[in-house]
Amino acid sequence: MDKLPSVKDLPLSQKTVLLRTNYDVSLEQGEITDTSRIDESLPTLNYLLQQQAKVVILSHLGRPEGKVVPKLSLKPVVDYLSVLIKKEMDLINDFSQKKETEVLMLENLRFWPEEESNDPTFTKQLASLGDLYVNDAFAVSHRSHASIVGLPSFLPSAFGFDFLKETDALGKIQSQPEHPVVIILGGVKEDKLEIIEKILPWSDQILVGGKLPQLVKKNYPEKVMIAQLNEMGKDITLESIKNFASIIKKAGTIVWAGPLGLVEEEEFRQGTREIAQVVMKSPAFKVVGGGDTEAVLTKFNLVDKIDYISSGGGAMFEYLAQGTLPGIKAILERKSIKND
Ligand code: 3PG
Repeated sequence: MDKLPSVKDLPLSQKTVLLRTNYDVSLEQGEITDTSRIDESLPTLNYLLQQQAKVVILSHLGRPEGKVVPKLSLKPVVDYLSVLIKKEMDLINDFSQKKETEVLMLENLRFWPEEESNDPTFTKQLASLGDLYVNDAFAVSHRSHASIVGLPSFLPSAFGFDFLKETDALGKIQSQPEHPVVIILGGVKEDKLEIIEKILPWSDQILVGGKLPQLVKKNYPEKVMIAQLNEMGKDITLESIKNFASIIKKAGTIVWAGPLGLVEEEEFRQGTREIAQVVMKSPAFKVVGGGDTEAVLTKFNLVDKIDYISSGGGAMFEYLAQGTLPGIKAILERKSIKND
């Protein structure tokens, strides 16, 4: 894999940088329940400001599907971040709005349908907000969206520190994993099922729980084990816990994304808790992806035993399967053509 261009390689002074972050945080009644995705963006943001750059932050939040959904506004993120960096910040929702502050944020990118369709006119409008582009949003860089794959064709581009931390850590696991490699997939997002196909060649065993067993509509090869669910369909059965545990105990590498049951409710936590205990006792190299799994392991006091926590779920698996992502290819292609 080529060495990835870093934000440190860009001439930043007096320039305006479009910084793509992943502030896709969970909100409860307008309050951010886990700020880690925001906190992790600080090294890059602070570096840009120290280098006398102005910053326009671009992010998405949730899946508003091209419509303005007020409860998915980035306002709570702006409020939290401006306290953290001790600077006033504007939140703008159209491209012509006047930019007064040193740091500002554009409203949720996914309020515009053109973000997900990677529309060139929209990308050009985004690009007009700055001089340079920095991608520090590893967890969404498996999406071919305007702010991920479109912007590098308009602006000199590089990666932020959090992104490079992810590719350094995951790159080592990707190229030489300790076998057997056991993947544990759970949660509720249906598109996780697409991951099974992608990660098949890289893994030795794939264990599937959470809501996913209800969504499976096809047969998979033998190395994919789909959990049985209890009568209410909200947790995996004791039999499945036993079967999963015997596979996990033999693993050399374990990669886990997504709780195995409806962990928001105490009575459906058993599968996730017991599997978490088996994972933590294993001497295998242990990787966890995505905010939900990290939050659950924190609740069980088991998070310290993880070797690496990735901010991405889908992006992490795609990177492990392919050693690259659409967001990486877009910046590397620009470099090879333009040599910025
Ligand atoms: C994530 O939470 O994994 C990223 O923000 C990507 O979100 P998406 O699956 O809605 O594209």
